[in-house]
Amino acid sequence: MPDIKISIVIPTYQEVINIPLICEQINNHLTDIPFEIIFVDDNSQDGSSEAVARIAEQIPARIIVRTQERGLSTAVITGIESAKGRYIVVMDCDLSHPASAILPIIDKLESGQNDFVVGSRYIEGGSFDDDWGFFRLLNSKIATWLALPLCHIKDPMSGFFAFERQQFETCAHLTPTGYKIGLEIMVKGEFSKPGEQPIHFKDREHGESKLSLKEQLLYLRHLRRLYRFKYPVTSEFAQFGLVGGTGFVIDSLIYFALQAFFGLGHNFSRAISFWPAATWNWFWNRTITFTHREKSNHLRQWLSFLATSLAGFVMNFGTYTTLTSYVPFFIDNKFIALILGVLVGMGFNFMMARIFVFKE
Ligand code: GDD
Repeated sequence: MPDIKISIVIPTYQEVINIPLICEQINNHLTDIPFEIIFVDDNSQDGSSEAVARIAEQIPARIIVRTQERGLSTAVITGIESAKGRYIVVMDCDLSHPASAILPIIDKLESGQNDFVVGSRYIEGGSFDDDWGFFRLLNSKIATWLALPLCHIKDPMSGFFAFERQQFETCAHLTPTGYKIGLEIMVKGEFSKPGEQPIHFKDREHGESKLSLKEQLLYLRHLRRLYRFKYPVTSEFAQFGLVGGTGFVIDSLIYFALQAFFGLGHNFSRAISFWPAATWNWFWNRTITFTHREKSNHLRQWLSFLATSLAGFVMNFGTYTTLTSYVPFFIDNKFIALILGVLVGMGFNFMMARIFVFKE
């Protein structure tokens, strides 16, 4: 038997109707090419195993049935780990990904033009059925935009992708969650030439999509992990800034409330509102921004966060007063000085938080 050239990994859950159809499509498009189809099924109990057994009499297909684990991403990894071919192609079972694109995708890998290829709806020549409702389209677009800075392709959400099997060894620390295993492999593996093959993405005709709201929320968590992996400092800084933004809202609300409802003076209100806001920032930075770092003693960490925040506040205020007192440009542009002060204070706080408060 010749060496297998292409292993097609297909995660399945309750796809008994689609299994023979996808096998037929693949077989029709891969004549004379040694391939294998690996279904990874999460114990659908709908006759999928029997269907694959029947097909295996004519087409090189097998099924791995998992009973202990569930989920599309981990199913794909199970399939890749059991594959024997030189190239891996991952696709859905519901016929939304055209088998006719497999060979053009493999050509791109074989010629060295790309080392990771996705079947893409969003490059020239790509398309999708036009009966997507407004919300589905918006949802898909937002999810795509959120992932674009992680990779250099236009359809990072695609579940149709391929790469050379030995490259899988370069994918360090996979944390497969939700649906976007292709994106994770692309981001974490050592791929320097990602590319796209235009496809027409067809809506499924049989069975149902399993993409639930929970999966979409998992996607956000997954994205956060991928950003942290690819841009560790920038992603911490962005989260630190977001938390600081919400802290600023808390600070302002308390500042105004103390004056409006308790008749306190503005200096006194300012001196009080700092503490709950800084505590809020500490809590959310501990819980979100630096959640992956060591969790040291609450009280000690809170106190050191307050101390560095106070120092940051002094730097912020110092920058503002210095600029508006001595630099003519800022005497007339106080708001720009205020923004610079905030940035200096935030930069300082961020460095202190990374180095001292939430150290690794
Ligand atoms: N083993 C296993 N376990 N397979 C699963 C599971 C699971 O928990 N959930 C879904 N699958 C299989 C389905 O049977 C199908 O073959 C494939 O994974 C895709 O699942 P669908 O539920 O059909 O996905 P979709 O059509 O909503 O989402 C598609 O669009 C996305 C981009 O918009 C898929 O193509 C995604 O891969 C793609 O990223």
